[in-house]
Amino acid sequence: MSTSETLAFNPFLPEVHEDPYPLYHQLRAADPVHRSPLGFWVLTRHADVLAVLRDARMSRDPRRSERMELLRSSTEVDELLSSEEAAPSMLFVDPPDHTRLRALVTKAFTPGAVERLRPRIEAIVAELLDRVAEAGEMDVVEDLAYPLPVTVICELFGVPERDRDRFRAWSRELVRLLDPLVPADSLERALRARQALRDYLRELIAERRAHPAGDLLTALIAAEDQGRQLSEPELVSMCVLLLVAGHETTVNLIANGMLALLRHPEARAGLQAGVNLPGSAVEELLRYDSPVQFTSRHALADLEIGGRRVRAGETVIAVLGAANRDPAQFPDPDRLDLTRAPNRHVAFGGGIHFCLGAPLARVEARIAIGALLARLPGLELCPRPPVRRDTVTLRGLASLPVTFPAPISPAGTA
Ligand code: HEM
Repeated sequence: MSTSETLAFNPFLPEVHEDPYPLYHQLRAADPVHRSPLGFWVLTRHADVLAVLRDARMSRDPRRSERMELLRSSTEVDELLSSEEAAPSMLFVDPPDHTRLRALVTKAFTPGAVERLRPRIEAIVAELLDRVAEAGEMDVVEDLAYPLPVTVICELFGVPERDRDRFRAWSRELVRLLDPLVPADSLERALRARQALRDYLRELIAERRAHPAGDLLTALIAAEDQGRQLSEPELVSMCVLLLVAGHETTVNLIANGMLALLRHPEARAGLQAGVNLPGSAVEELLRYDSPVQFTSRHALADLEIGGRRVRAGETVIAVLGAANRDPAQFPDPDRLDLTRAPNRHVAFGGGIHFCLGAPLARVEARIAIGALLARLPGLELCPRPPVRRDTVTLRGLASLPVTFPAPISPAGTA
């Protein structure tokens, strides 16, 4: 049996989940356009991944996939799916709907718009670090990486603070839908969470319609009211997408990034102390341990990738995390080099679905990691090890305990 036949792409195996990069290297070397026994294709080369993301013959719409039928495996799931009055979000549609939906929110997330949020982001980070600075220990996820992006996106949308815990629970369940395989019970829970989140947003929209405010939700409601730019189900899906993206991605950049820095003191030592982490360092942290490991596309026509024939309707998994460690694109790809240039990573995807929130994620990570290192320079990993989250498409940590020297109390006050 050849190596390519014995290799399997199973991101759920515990050792692969912990560290998927050795498997990615093996696949890329032996079988870069891999046909999984489950019927989908797996791409691990940077050039193939980028080409697929930019190819108009590859759809982002799951309704174009033969595999959609696999999901409808239980009666409950079938009922849940058919009872939903939902429209897909921009992430799951092709042009022209994609172009129309994306245009409605582009302005709110441009680098200029995000720069205006900088003082508020700095204030939130300072406040979060004030809370733990005396303690001598913290959980980077709970105390900083999670609350920062959640507060920012909820404030942008005007989600009341009292509802944020419920939101967190729904969002956690829902993102399981992004994984390549979802066990039936998780699928059911995820679909119920999605429904609860949509019901909640419908209420919030009704309330905001009655009492407009200066937030993004009010602007989107106006787009729905004023023209036929956005239907009500599309408005709800847009809110779900942006709020969930705000809850589930940047947290992983900050946590994975901090873990990489803590495990590479020599790389960290080269960083200049300052409130902002250098831009090149954030790009390298995005490349080195990417928060979104895969995305998928569905072939609209028969086509060829790396000499293999992909048929219309087949699904291709583009492994962003593997493309980001491809030695053909990145010299010494397993080395964390915070000054790496050029750094053409695909952590934010590519082509028309390139991450809308990239400027926001970059600014939040630069400020959060920069301030953490500047304020708590003696930061170290705790003997209690970090805990990984169990999702595979979204790669992140459930907790990252760290210690640091607490400030010395002035003499006589201890
Ligand atoms: C480090 C943080 C983040 C990472 C690594 C990330 C990654 C990605 C990736 C890989 C895609 C493309 C998916 C595909 O092509 O199939 C994407 C799309 C998207 N992201 Fe992000 N994201 C991050 C943060 C955010 C934030 C903070 C927001 C907004 C609040 C956001 C909103 C979106 C949206 C709306 C899309 C869909 C764009 C489209 O379909 O045109 N992301 N993101």
